[in-house]
Amino acid sequence: MPMVISVASGKGGVGKSSLVVNLSLCLQESYGPTLLVDSDLLMANSHILLNTQPKTDIVDVLEGHSEWRDAVHKVSNGLALLPGRTAANVLLGSEAEKMKNLITTLKDDGQEFDYIVVDTPAGSGVGVLDMLSVSDHAVIVILGQATSFVDAYALIKNAYLERHLTRFSTVVNMAKSAEQAEIIFAKFKRVVGQFLPIEMIYNGFLPNMADINEASIKGHSAHDMMAKARIAAKMDEILKSLLAISSGMGTAPETALKMHRL
Ligand SMILES: Nc1ncnc2c1ncn2[C@@H]1O[C@H](COP(=O)(O)OP(=O)(O)OP(=O)(O)O)[C@@H](O)[C@H]1O
Ligand SMILES: [Mg+2]
Repeated sequence: MPMVISVASGKGGVGKSSLVVNLSLCLQESYGPTLLVDSDLLMANSHILLNTQPKTDIVDVLEGHSEWRDAVHKVSNGLALLPGRTAANVLLGSEAEKMKNLITTLKDDGQEFDYIVVDTPAGSGVGVLDMLSVSDHAVIVILGQATSFVDAYALIKNAYLERHLTRFSTVVNMAKSAEQAEIIFAKFKRVVGQFLPIEMIYNGFLPNMADINEASIKGHSAHDMMAKARIAAKMDEILKSLLAISSGMGTAPETALKMHRL
């Protein structure tokens, strides 16, 4: 069964899609067949980052117009992409349940994949919580900014109260150094630990990399080999740490949840 890794952040624009695309390319290159699922129905951009213009996407699958395999497109290095859609004309609330069922279907039927990486929209709506709850690893991207802390905390709190999740992986994006990233993570872990019985795991950081920003401007396939290698080296560090954790999300007993709802 493929391992499902979902990436979320609460706050928008912190680097989820960049991380998802680069992690997926690295998984496909060095670890095993990988499917990137873009679950963003308002501002999907994985296909833009990967320089493709797919004719079918996840909305076609959710609406029953396409089989999931027919909406999966092979990109650059063999990575499979199930693209999202921008400003999809769908009722997001009612699509959330279908999206969750789709991931479960992909887990059961997508046996040709070793990894499924899910990009999620900003916020902590039901769709994001559902995605995290059906994943083996929930990865939270944070920046060293108060707004990122507040929004990521809100997401984790909702995921704990509404979906009983008790374990999150963390990647610090755009840190100045490894030391600074560790300080940012320690601070965030302290904030979460003050209020919630959550296990926060540190999985590494990304510096502010011109390579990543350029890839998002030009698209990955237009990118030079050296830049690809530099990004892949950073992704590999994060993946080694993430894949070393035994998969499976912790879940909280109902009595503990009652205390926190009070
Ligand atoms: N480590 C990094 N170094 C430099 N630029 C980065 C880095 N990570 C992300 N960016 C840039 O930050 C911007 C936002 O990134 P991205 O679109 O991945 O964020 P997001 O969290 O997916 O946003 P949204 O919430 O809108 O989906 C992009 O221009 C991207 O190139
Ligand atoms: Mg995004």
